[in-house]
Amino acid sequence: MGTAQIKALLGDQLSDLEWKVQAPLIEEINQLKKDKNAIILAHNYQSPIIFHGVGDIQGDSLLLAQEAQKTRADIIVMAGVHFMAETAKLLSPEKKVLIPDLKAGCSLASSITGADVRLLKERFPGVPVVTYVNSSADVKAETDVCCTSANAVSVVESLGVKKVIFLPDEFLGKWVATQTDVELILWKGHCEVHEQFTREELKTFRAKYPGIHIIAHPECPPDVLEEADFVGSTSGMIKHLFALKPPKVVMVTECSMADNVRVNLPETEFIKPCTLCPHMQRITLEKIRDSLKFDQYEVLIPEELAKKARASVERMIQIPRGKFG
Ligand code: 13P
Ligand code: SF4
Repeated sequence: MGTAQIKALLGDQLSDLEWKVQAPLIEEINQLKKDKNAIILAHNYQSPIIFHGVGDIQGDSLLLAQEAQKTRADIIVMAGVHFMAETAKLLSPEKKVLIPDLKAGCSLASSITGADVRLLKERFPGVPVVTYVNSSADVKAETDVCCTSANAVSVVESLGVKKVIFLPDEFLGKWVATQTDVELILWKGHCEVHEQFTREELKTFRAKYPGIHIIAHPECPPDVLEEADFVGSTSGMIKHLFALKPPKVVMVTECSMADNVRVNLPETEFIKPCTLCPHMQRITLEKIRDSLKFDQYEVLIPEELAKKARASVERMIQIPRGKFG
């Protein structure tokens, strides 16, 4: 897409002054991508100027992982957070994977370590471990199979067992437990963005906007999910919206996503409960440009660790998304 088309697509989301600063950066990044045979993977929570302006592959964490495995590019720049870059590196070990800001972390990933998982396995011997991809390579290395919010139910059920250790998102785990008979042993990790939503807030939306459709990400607390009309991964929510095209919607999730979606869904009015992910926000066009220019910051995983962590991600990729993704 040329810069004029990007400007038209983003419409009211950017002032003329902002565009004047950002347009040359977009052009510079697109040229650097060509020169270095690089691609940019952009998560659904990334700011619209990055998502639509320079993202080559856009989607949820599962799609980004799958595409990282398929690409022929020499360099992958992750316009997402660190665990997403690590997952890309696990699946494309021969490629250079860059994250424009090393501090782009995730409260779920930092809630648990490999040593914690080893202790849990000692406490519950023989119980398989399913871990959300929002985790470090260290934790993935102690995991039987990873999952994302798009395939969590299918992954848990694929093991054919009665009990599973499900890490580290307590709320995602509680939601999965409502969809399956498998018993889940949970950890108390939370997403710092989604844990802030409350049932009262959703009730206020219903009262203020009669007939509003409410969709939520399963990282939200259980009472919030009970109040929602649909629960799904970021991609699950997008698919649901394009199929339903409700007149008014509130997406109970990170708020850049509503901005990314609304440019292609003009018939729907988006009411935004605005909570940004501070980690996603660390990624800017300037940092992406510098990342490409100076090959920074390369994500490296020691091979012994990578071998174990990779197996748990590869097992996940074989399992289909399911109806929530
Ligand atoms: P998805 O797996 O739905 O893309 O979500 C990733 C994430 O970080 C949600 O907070
Ligand atoms: Fe992590 Fe939450 Fe940010 Fe997703 S939105 S990257 S789960 S802190």
